[in-house]
Amino acid sequence: MKSKGAIFLAIVVVAFMSACGGGSGDKEKKGKFAPPPKAKPMTYEEAQADWKNQKGRGPITKVELGELDAEMAKKGEDIYVLKCTACHAPDKEKLGPAPTGIFERRTPEWIMNMILNPEEMAMKDPIGRGLLMKYNTVMANQGLTEDDARAVLEYFRTL
Ligand code: HEC
Repeated sequence: MKSKGAIFLAIVVVAFMSACGGGSGDKEKKGKFAPPPKAKPMTYEEAQADWKNQKGRGPITKVELGELDAEMAKKGEDIYVLKCTACHAPDKEKLGPAPTGIFERRTPEWIMNMILNPEEMAMKDPIGRGLLMKYNTVMANQGLTEDDARAVLEYFRTL
């Protein structure tokens, strides 16, 4: 512990000294310590072309789709009718896109993250951002549990 404290102190002292160094070296220092340039975020078009690798942002990293589970799909349909149809119709655009054919443009992980974490998806996910630009409405977080979102996903498989 003692040595850690000493190292910390040394760092503070060095940082203090260099901060007060001033003079002609200043410009050079700024350049040296500038953070590396961030990778350019993907555009909507780039991300859409790469949709099979896009998992979105949120709690879901892996979804296994097995045989269709009709019971789960029915539960998902009930949830969808109750919590989603204010803005979505199953087969045509409403405030948001229709989920028909969604597995030809989105991964299961992306879909579940969109359901569970729509605010962050609209801000930070390249496809989410693109959809927000298009539909001009932020999807509301309906507070589904992961199980509920998984059931809705199963329902989408039947459309
Ligand atoms: C307040 C309206 C609203 C509600 C309620 C809503 N959504 Fe959305 N949803 C949208 C909008 C608008 C978009 C397009 C993305 C955006 O603008 O944020 C969207 C996008 C989506 C997408 C992406 C579709 C695609 O083609 O990429 C999915 C999946 C989705 N919603 C599922 C749901 C589910 C499931 C529910 C219910 C739990 C739900 N939404 C509730 C408005 C809503």
